[in-house]
Amino acid sequence: MTNPICDFLDNYRDRSQLRLHMPGHKGVGGMGVEGLDITEIEGADVLYNAKGIIRQSMDNATGLFGTQRTLYSTEGSSLSIKAMLYLAMLTRGDKRPLIAAGRNAHKVLMYGCALLDIEIDWLYGDSLLSCNITPDALEEYLRHNDPVAVYITSPDYLGNMADIKGLAEVCHRHGVMLLVDNAHGAYLKFLPASQHPIDLGADICCDSAHKTLPCLTGAGYLHISRNAPEYLCDMADDAMSLFASTSPSYLILYSLDRCNSYLDSVLRQRLCDTIPCVEELKQSLFTVGDEPMKLTLDAKKYGYSGVELSELMTEQGIVCEFADPDYLVMMLPPDKEAVISVISALLYIDRRAPIEDTPPALKCLEKAMNPRQAIMSKNEPVSIDKALGRVLGAPSVSCPPAVPIAVCGEVIDQSAIELFRYYGIDKIRVII
Ligand SMILES: Cc1ncc(COP(=O)(O)O)c(C=O)c1O
Repeated sequence: MTNPICDFLDNYRDRSQLRLHMPGHKGVGGMGVEGLDITEIEGADVLYNAKGIIRQSMDNATGLFGTQRTLYSTEGSSLSIKAMLYLAMLTRGDKRPLIAAGRNAHKVLMYGCALLDIEIDWLYGDSLLSCNITPDALEEYLRHNDPVAVYITSPDYLGNMADIKGLAEVCHRHGVMLLVDNAHGAYLKFLPASQHPIDLGADICCDSAHKTLPCLTGAGYLHISRNAPEYLCDMADDAMSLFASTSPSYLILYSLDRCNSYLDSVLRQRLCDTIPCVEELKQSLFTVGDEPMKLTLDAKKYGYSGVELSELMTEQGIVCEFADPDYLVMMLPPDKEAVISVISALLYIDRRAPIEDTPPALKCLEKAMNPRQAIMSKNEPVSIDKALGRVLGAPSVSCPPAVPIAVCGEVIDQSAIELFRYYGIDKIRVII
């Protein structure tokens, strides 16, 4: 595996020369990374018009993921999702700009749809963070509706994986594209049997390389399937450019380039070695989700909230990914030693009587306007106690998991207030 970006940057860092180009640190400074941090100078290629080192590196990634084309993002899945929506709209012909999306989508879906003036039909599931849309339910929806694309988040934040193969078959039977937010699942390609959405039939998907691969924060991919129309590959640079900064981070590109060697050489074996340990551990615990490398504890079954469990883990030197009243989410590395540390930490936690309460139900709210109209309107913060009857202006949820409790443009009712309170949100932004 070649590493053309790393080779170029290593070489550039080691040359003794005065840099009279951007960035302003001129390659020197106290962080220690400045030497590698350049901009699109001569020889360094141009991210979304790549013909040199970036092109070679992205071609390597394309080969590793087995796609028609894989592009790098230095702005995470947030950028790739907007580009993916734009690309889907190019296929729409005379169809209405409508997307059907699982309701547990990350808020960037809403931003992308607002910017591109796309309507969203929400497909509701069992809870806020999980949305188990079955092929049968999708079939029923598509019999009566004609969206341009279906948008599924899989794996979700808790590690639930959708039946992408079944959903893709249904979509394609109806002539509809399947877009997958695979932000949490870049590594799924390298399982003994790939569970990557592109291999299961998705047309386009995004991965946050930084979430599950050894890449810097912000590193991501946009993948286009070999089965998708060729012109999507031709348009993909424009799609990314529409939303991206014109100053991509070369540190992030360096990490993506280096990651290709890791994907090519060690990841498969490490996953093979670690997954049986994780599976064994999961059998002895109350967990949710079927994503192999995510360990999500059903905290209340142990008599704790997820947040309390997270604090107990932190006391033992383990900082988890996410905790809420119900769950504690751990994103495991492909490393048996880390799994053993988790096992030892969990052994220290005393079990208590299970907590029986459940989260307030996620209800379908009245829609006063669409997300675009809402996001383009002036809004103000209000305390959740004073929000009854007001129209949500901004998602008002932060990362993680950034799944909107109410959708922008919906009228806040008592059930939404209870849900905001349950997740500890005491202020939301409503339209003035
Ligand atoms: C499901 C999901 N999709 C998209 C995103 C956005 O990804 P990124 O942070 O790589 O931009 C996130 C971030 O947490 C996410 O959890």
